[in-house]
Parts: sequence; C-alpha cells; structure tokens
Amino acid sequence: MTSDLYTWIYLPGQSQPVVAGKLTISATPAGNAGIFVYGKSYLSNPDALPIDPVSLPLRGNINHISSFNGYPGAILDACPDRWGIKVITRLRGEQDFPSGYLLLNDPGRSGCLAFSDSALSPPQELSSREFSLTQLMHAAESVENNQPVEEELLRALHPGTGGARPKCNLIDDDAVWIAKFPSSSDSPLISIPRLEHAAMTLARACGINAAETKIKVVGGKDVCLVRRFDRMVSNGNISRFGYLSARTVFYGDAGFERFKTGSYSRLARWLPRYGSDNSAAGELFRRMVFNCAIRNTDDHEINHGLVFDPARGYVLAPAFDVVPQPGSHRIHQHALLIGDSAAGTIDNLLFAHQSFGLSKEEAAAIINAVSTSVRAKWQEIFYECGFGDEEIHRLEHCFRPIPSSQGNQ
Ligand SMILES: Nc1ncnc2c1ncn2[C@@H]1O[C@H](COP(=O)(O)OP(=O)(O)O)[C@@H](O)[C@H]1O
Ligand SMILES: [Mg+2]
Repeated sequence: MTSDLYTWIYLPGQSQPVVAGKLTISATPAGNAGIFVYGKSYLSNPDALPIDPVSLPLRGNINHISSFNGYPGAILDACPDRWGIKVITRLRGEQDFPSGYLLLNDPGRSGCLAFSDSALSPPQELSSREFSLTQLMHAAESVENNQPVEEELLRALHPGTGGARPKCNLIDDDAVWIAKFPSSSDSPLISIPRLEHAAMTLARACGINAAETKIKVVGGKDVCLVRRFDRMVSNGNISRFGYLSARTVFYGDAGFERFKTGSYSRLARWLPRYGSDNSAAGELFRRMVFNCAIRNTDDHEINHGLVFDPARGYVLAPAFDVVPQPGSHRIHQHALLIGDSAAGTIDNLLFAHQSFGLSKEEAAAIINAVSTSVRAKWQEIFYECGFGDEEIHRLEHCFRPIPSSQGNQ
C-alpha cells in the first residue's frame, strides 16, 4: 500500500504556496519507507529553495527516507505535537499520524510547508474569524478539561504549532506571536508563562539571542507571548520562512541513527552545513551554559532549531521554550548531551569546547561570564517581571552556581 503527500512551499514573500515535490510512503514488511522527489517544474523555478539543504538538496534524484517511518525530518517539523494533535482530534477526530495532521493545513505550523493529496489541489488552509485572547484562553482550557468548544474557536487556536503546552497564535504589534497559556497540569505555586517570560528576559540580558516575549494578563491569568521568528508581517501580508528542528539536523547525519543521542556539540558541528557562520557555535555554547545555569533541563532536540534567512541560509533560530525546571538534585541531567554526558557541570561544559570552535580558555571565560551574569541579574529581572519574594525564594535552587564536577561542588 502506498500514499502520496504533495509537499508545497511558501517561498519568501509569497502569499500562495507552490508545489515543491511528492513524498510517497510505502508499507513494507520492515515498516514504512519514504521516497521524496522534487517536481520538475519546481526544479526549473529560479526561486526554488530546498526544503532541507542537507538531507534534501535541490536535485532531480530519488531520496530514500528510512527514519521516522519514511517521513523526512523537515516535513515532520511542520507537524503539530501533543497540543495540536489534541485540538485537531477534537475538530476532526483522530487522524493517521502524521499524514492526517499534515494534510490539515493550519497556518500556525512551523516553517513554510503545506500539504495536499494531489498536485492539482492546493492545500486548503484552516481559517476562522478573529477571537479575543480571553475567548482563546477559555477555549484552550475547555480543550484541556474535555469541555465542549465551538468549532470555529478550535480552528482559531491554530493547532498546527508544535509543543505540548496549550497555545494559540495571534497578530499583535505587526508581528505574529505564539501565546502560551497556563496549563491545568502546572504547579499551582508558580505561574509558568511568567516564569518563561522571566527566563527569556534573563537570557537576553545575558547576551543570548532569545525570541522576544511579553506577558498579557487575561482574566487574572498570565499568558506568555513569544514573537515568531519564522513569520514576518509587512503591509498586512504574512511571509513564512523555513524551519528545521535540531532533530532534523541530527538525522541529517546518516550515522546518527545508530546512536540517537543528540548533543549540543553535534548541533554546533553541523550548523555550518546549513548556512550558519562561526558565531553560531559560540552562541549555542552560551545557550548550553545558560541552560545549565538556570536548570533548564527541557532542552531537547525540538526545543532548538534553524530558521531560513534569505540572505544567509538556515541559521540558528533565536532561543525559545527556555524555562527553569524545578528539582532539587545537586547535578541536573539535560535532554541533550552537554559534553560526554548529560550532566550540567563545569567540567562537562568544558569537555567538547573544540566542537564550538573555542579554546578551553575561551570556553571557561564564557562559562564564567554567563554564570556570573545569571547570578547577578536573575533576582532583579524576576522582580521586574512581576514575581514576589515568595516565588523568588522558591526558585533560588534553580540558580545555584553550576557544580564544578560530578564528584564535588
Ligand atoms: N518564537 C518562535 N518562532 C517560531 N516558532 C517557534 C517559536 N517558539 C516556538 N516555536 C515552535 O513552536 C513549537 C512549540 O513551542 P514551545 O515554546 O516549544 O512550546 P511547548 O512549551 O509547548 O513545548 C516549537 O517546537 C517550535 O517548533
Ligand atoms: Mg517545546
């Protein structure tokens, strides 16, 4: 049995997608296998861009895909995650994963791809009228609590955006934002959207290129707005830019499948193949140190990504989803390997300095600068972001000095 998924792309500045290629998924006794081919007309389009410059360069050959059940990582990056799947299931019932969720073309999805089941039928975009943030937040709460929600409101949540937290998309100040709501699974002791805003503000204050955030208080609840880096609004038109997660970068290396252990240093080494310059590896090193310094252990392979910049290619996207994770262990284990293990220690941070193009001394200087800056600034920034003494006290353990090694403090 085979099925075809026509892959369309919004080229930079274009409001309509063009068909780029076709993914054919075949069921085999060894599981699904995928074949991706670019269309001839796309290959002759002078503006054509590859959907992934490393794994799927613009060529007329057949690309065999064995990872992810036959789906290229770049296509999976356009698929909603736990939250979007929940909303779409409420809207249309359970779909085949991922094809059913990809064929439901929501403009909230990451990047610039869209899908249809025929080259002659362009993707149908999910649309809705506008709702207030209050209505959208209540709709998201009802989805979480399995209460009824009007269908148009479900569409207005823009379920295409990834991640597990309840969210929607909205336009504000001539930009597209992801609005991240409180979740019924959050600790009642601290506002997680406000914590995300404070951590992202601290990251920017420590010299990290983190996406812009702001807090909106809706009906007494905090909502964290994160400015989208893969959308640009000009003259009322929204342009979309390609997005690739670090997961897709990792699987771009044929050897990765055997190990399946993502690491910051692997990401740093692969960045130049996509278009990033040398400064990106240094920026990534700084983010890794920052994540250790604030105990953001949810730094997994889909919480890092690359965004297409027409002048440079795929560059390291601004940091997002940076949130301290409570836990009173002395040594925190990160989702990506830090050095030769996942432990957030100074020794481990120094371990792979060469992968980031840094000498040991340069790496040590960055560790010192970032951790000193975090410790000097976090309380003031968290107060400015609206936290009180009680919350600051509760968060203190997240900001202790980074332990020097596994053995001693
Ligand atoms: N500022 C942003 N611009 C564009 N895409 C983003 C941005 N922030 C997050 N995303 C995309 O949305 C997904 C979900 O966002 P994230 O903040 O990670 O939510 P969650 O807390 O639910 O994991 C990410 O995996 C990424 O693909
Ligand atoms: Mg996330």
